[in-house]
Amino acid sequence: MAGRRINRMVALSHRLSILGPRGNTLSVVAQGEGPTLILVHGFPLDHRLWLSQVEALSKTHKVLCPELRGFGDSQLIEPQYSIADLADDLEKVRQHFAPNEKVALCGLSMGGYVAFEYWARHGQNLSHLILANTKPNADGEQGRAGRLAMAQTAMENGTVEALGNMVDKLVASGSSETIRNAAIEMMQSVPPQTIAAAQTAMSQRNDFAQRLKEIDVPTLVITGCEDSIAPPTATQAWANQIASSNLSVLENSAHLTPVEAPEAFNTTLLSFLNA
Ligand code: MLT
Repeated sequence: MAGRRINRMVALSHRLSILGPRGNTLSVVAQGEGPTLILVHGFPLDHRLWLSQVEALSKTHKVLCPELRGFGDSQLIEPQYSIADLADDLEKVRQHFAPNEKVALCGLSMGGYVAFEYWARHGQNLSHLILANTKPNADGEQGRAGRLAMAQTAMENGTVEALGNMVDKLVASGSSETIRNAAIEMMQSVPPQTIAAAQTAMSQRNDFAQRLKEIDVPTLVITGCEDSIAPPTATQAWANQIASSNLSVLENSAHLTPVEAPEAFNTTLLSFLNA
């Protein structure tokens, strides 16, 4: 069932490759016409995180789902990059698909780290910012060490061993087998070099916790009531510091709100975009 759904969605969408700033090929799934909405997946996922959003939101928006370097069909090109490089990749996507437009940018988790960086580097091109299941602060020492350990395990022993039981942190305990298996399928399709590069980049990401008050673009913050990576209480604390923000905590979901609570996610996002 999950597989049939994925195939049907990809068939309706256009999957395009564009050139990134370093000659890297970026894969973008695109569907619909209207104001542009860019959806950026988290780690270790790909554009399939957004299938329900592509289906629902492309009725009113041009929905673009770029894949980050090394994920899905996007090229890794170099073994190391920074989160700022990924933000510059997104700017290439905007320039290609919506050169004369401000865009709404939604990033989930690692995609949120990229969205913060995009705001810092290219914020003049944003109409709306949506930060889903993410956080503004950089890692502490322990977090950084954990990421570098995962990077090393990936390179030595492969993706499956490096990821271990990470899926338990991504989906809520009550999530269906279909949701859980779709997450595992995405996770296990990520090459070890991509795991290592992404973890290294995240370990070195900039800290935006002290800059939240500078964000003046309309902002929606979303998390799941069972998300242990971006818990509701901690999320509320930082979201409150963004003057123009709304927070929505979705029921029956953990870290993968777009697939665990797709209707609530889409309704929340659409009413924010249409306000
Ligand atoms: C993600 O979903 O992108 C990751 O949980 C982000 C992280 O490892 O901090």
